[in-house]
Amino acid sequence: MALPTCASNRHGQIGEKMAKKNDTELWRPRQGERIAYERWQEVSLRRLEDDTRIQLAPKPRRLQHSLSVARTAEHLAVLYDVDPYLARAAGLLHDWDKVVSNEELILRAKHFGIDLGVPLEQVVPLLHGMVAARELPDRYPHLPVEVWHAIACHTSAAQDMGPLDMVLFVADGIEPLRRATEGISATRALVGHASLEDVYWNAFVGGIIYVLEGGRYLLPRTIEVYNSQARSRAQRART
Ligand SMILES: [Fe+2]
Ligand SMILES: [Fe+2]
Repeated sequence: MALPTCASNRHGQIGEKMAKKNDTELWRPRQGERIAYERWQEVSLRRLEDDTRIQLAPKPRRLQHSLSVARTAEHLAVLYDVDPYLARAAGLLHDWDKVVSNEELILRAKHFGIDLGVPLEQVVPLLHGMVAARELPDRYPHLPVEVWHAIACHTSAAQDMGPLDMVLFVADGIEPLRRATEGISATRALVGHASLEDVYWNAFVGGIIYVLEGGRYLLPRTIEVYNSQARSRAQRART
């Protein structure tokens, strides 16, 4: 499949380089990649990164993961014509509440009225994004609602996944520090060769398989999301 938007994206340098390069590692941000951000965006991203470094300091590996997701999300955004500033911001902040204890996460989720249709104690690993998406807008009012939506659904996906949501979801799953599994390698191999929707779908289904194979709890809502998106994909394929 041809690169959908690579050579024609709004954000310049990286996309053109990739379209020419035509290699098999399009998923990986390269050393020295730089986006020509506006000054206010640079200032904003620097602040978000500094804050993330402080917030996640107790968990150095989580911090490195977040920085890597931010770079990967930015890279995917350029490749797929999504706003790289928003992608990088979402990547930096997506695991903000990973330093919060399970008990505290449940308390905060209840406080925000988060209802996943099952006892929250059963789905604690899914809560950090949803809680952060409700806490952080007060701290960063300059960031738009798309960023918070992407962060809210980066663990569970949602029926209404937009391009930024997909970019963050995929970046979280394939960032270079993540050890390759069969599923992750399959998703990485699609980047730049398939549409963002197809890359996301591969990552989403791979995530479900991972949950099932590990005997982990699968949120019932995830089955609904799967069925809804599978139906939409089938309809699109017919038209
Ligand atoms: Fe997360
Ligand atoms: Fe993450």
